[in-house]
Amino acid sequence: MIKVGVFGAKGRMGAEVCHAVQEAPGLDLAAAIDLGDSRDALIGADVAVDFTHPDAVMANIAWCVEHGVNAVVGTTGFTPERLDSVRGFLGDEPSVGVLIASNFAIGAVLMMHFSKLAAPYFESVEIIETHHPMKADAPSGTAATTARIIAQARAEAGCAPMPDATTQEVPGARGADFDGVRVHSLRLAGLIAHQEVHLTSAGETLTIIDDARSRATYMPGVLAGIAWVSDHKGLTMGLDRVLGL
Ligand SMILES: NC(=O)c1ccc[n+]([C@@H]2O[C@H](COP(=O)([O-])OP(=O)(O)OC[C@H]3O[C@@H](n4cnc5c(N)ncnc54)[C@H](O)[C@@H]3O)[C@@H](O)[C@H]2O)c1
Repeated sequence: MIKVGVFGAKGRMGAEVCHAVQEAPGLDLAAAIDLGDSRDALIGADVAVDFTHPDAVMANIAWCVEHGVNAVVGTTGFTPERLDSVRGFLGDEPSVGVLIASNFAIGAVLMMHFSKLAAPYFESVEIIETHHPMKADAPSGTAATTARIIAQARAEAGCAPMPDATTQEVPGARGADFDGVRVHSLRLAGLIAHQEVHLTSAGETLTIIDDARSRATYMPGVLAGIAWVSDHKGLTMGLDRVLGL
């Protein structure tokens, strides 16, 4: 039995994780805590799952490392500096695994993979992401990760900069810039998570779209991460590593 603790158990994602863990064979929901509860309820857990808030997640990861609890982290808002801090918590000889994935939806992970494959073959690539309006961070972690992956794939392939003659811009009109890849964020009531990657060249458009229609979408990926993380010490970024992509 893998003993699982959940940070953010009363939240939209955390509640779904608690339900999925309770239903999964081989997993035991050992603790479910939210804002104001003591983290000590998670002492003795094998794996902690964190879907909280960008302001809360760093302290939760530090606590997990200190208490020997492996961590599966879905909370978004990670910057390169934050990831360096996590590496600092883990030290040179990590005793636990920390898996951070900006998206646990298998379709979204494949979308990122396909975008990486396609990116060098088109002149222009831009991303539009749409989420529910209660989301704290913009752009989404998935969109930021996708943009960085695309930028890296294009740099490695020696692609020219994308054409863009904009010289006068209302701030934000061209979206956020991730190493030359633009990301546009929409916040619309009634939706959950949706992302489009538009790749174009003269005469041809390839559009890769992923839609999460319910939060259950993320659970197969979260459960795969829980089963995987204890055997992989140190920091791992992305569900693609778990899926072997
Ligand atoms: N990686 C993914 O696949 C994925 C998918 C959806 C959402 N997310 C991210 O997950 C996070 C949570 O999303 P949500 O929609 O469930 O948010 P939410 O606001 O519904 O839930 C967050 C919960 O965390 C609790 N919380 C805050 N600080 C805490 C702390 N220090 N300790 C314990 N609990 C604490 C809040 O009280 C709340 O109940 C966000 O960062 C979101 O972007 C990631």
